[in-house]
Amino acid sequence: MDRVERRAVLRTGLLAGGVGVAAVAATRAASGPGPAGQDAASPASGQGSRAARPATLPFRGPHQAGVVDEPQPFAAFVGLDLPKGATRQTCRRLLRVWTDDIERLMAARGPLTDLEPELAAVPSRLSVTVAVGPGFYAAAGLEADRPSWLAPLPPFEVDRFEPHWPQTDLLLQIRADSPVAVAHAQRRLVVGAQPLAVQRWVQRGFREPLTAVRPGMPFRNLFGQVDGTVQPATGGAEDGLIWLGSGGLPAPQGLAGGTSLVIRRIAMNLDTWDEVDRAGREHAIGRRIATGAPLTGRVESDVPDLAATDALGFPVIDPVSHMRRAMPLAPHERILRAPYSYDDAPGPGERSNSGLVFVSFQADPVRQFVPIQQRLAEADLLNIWTTPVSSGVYAVLPGAGAGEDLGAALLA
Ligand code: HEM
Repeated sequence: MDRVERRAVLRTGLLAGGVGVAAVAATRAASGPGPAGQDAASPASGQGSRAARPATLPFRGPHQAGVVDEPQPFAAFVGLDLPKGATRQTCRRLLRVWTDDIERLMAARGPLTDLEPELAAVPSRLSVTVAVGPGFYAAAGLEADRPSWLAPLPPFEVDRFEPHWPQTDLLLQIRADSPVAVAHAQRRLVVGAQPLAVQRWVQRGFREPLTAVRPGMPFRNLFGQVDGTVQPATGGAEDGLIWLGSGGLPAPQGLAGGTSLVIRRIAMNLDTWDEVDRAGREHAIGRRIATGAPLTGRVESDVPDLAATDALGFPVIDPVSHMRRAMPLAPHERILRAPYSYDDAPGPGERSNSGLVFVSFQADPVRQFVPIQQRLAEADLLNIWTTPVSSGVYAVLPGAGAGEDLGAALLA
């Protein structure tokens, strides 16, 4: 999209005349290739052992980035709502602006309205993933096409929702190797969307840097547990568990190549967790803290022996340990987890405000996610220390093909 076209998109937008237009008018001559200017696969320079990983991720393709890619260490999840009176045109204009801005940001170039493109210039494996909620379908007049799973999850016994992070019409998942890249992309995309969408909340999260001493070792959450060991395989026979339209199943209208995203903010009580000894901690999960190995095994990849008993005849892996309860009872009860830790400033009189921004991808959350969550809500030792405080379900749009805007098939 050139500058004139972008200006037209914003100007003719609902409630036109907001910050976006002003910013376009003031913008620099930024449409040329940015300082990075490299193609999607060019390796980062000066990154030692990381040189093999591309410093930018491709934006265009059948799927959006940020789903099956190795999660980057920093993330922001931004919930936005469409304005009152939004129509299909509003949705189209918004996705047109975001398509252009995200493509530039992911290539380490500032969007057209960027007055500080230098903040975008360090290639940081930025990915921005756009997902839509039920309200998007309603505004676009597409209720009849809305997949039945794109609705709030059923209530679970353990839920204690707070009002700060409601379901929204849209979700941006922004991830990168650098917190600067995340902050900058978030700011540009939220400001650039005005007045076509308004930010409601932001959840920030982090993981171990990928340069960590033990590369291969998955994410450790703030309970110290190795988290993310058992996951569906990606890029092959198990794709139907994740991508809509894969595995021989029909995709909902306009979503072939997309997926669903469940986001649940789960508070973790580090203060009461601190009172538990090492053995108790391992018992609660069914795996060793040090290695992530099942209590019946030696290494992380060992298959848990659920029948093993100790000298007193008790199961080594407790039937209500988290791992045991989360295991699939049917082959389709599997999800791709990509959680992030949060560690926010505690309130007055509190010592910690920490937890997990739990994120999972699956083709159908009702079929795949809900049975697991139901079992965990009924019995899971981890519930002693964890509390879900928000929940949302979104449809991740398919990737944008050459010359196409995100959501093109859905809004056609
Ligand atoms: C604060 C909340 C949570 C924490 C700290 C946590 C932590 C863990 C840990 C340490 C493991 C074992 C290693 C692994 O396979 O990743 C695990 C496994 C798993 N968790 Fe969670 N988890 C949480 C919430 C959830 C939720 C909400 C779900 C889904 C509803 C879930 C689903 C799973 C699944 C499917 C597995 C793999 C089970 C298997 O071995 O097949 N977890 N979790």
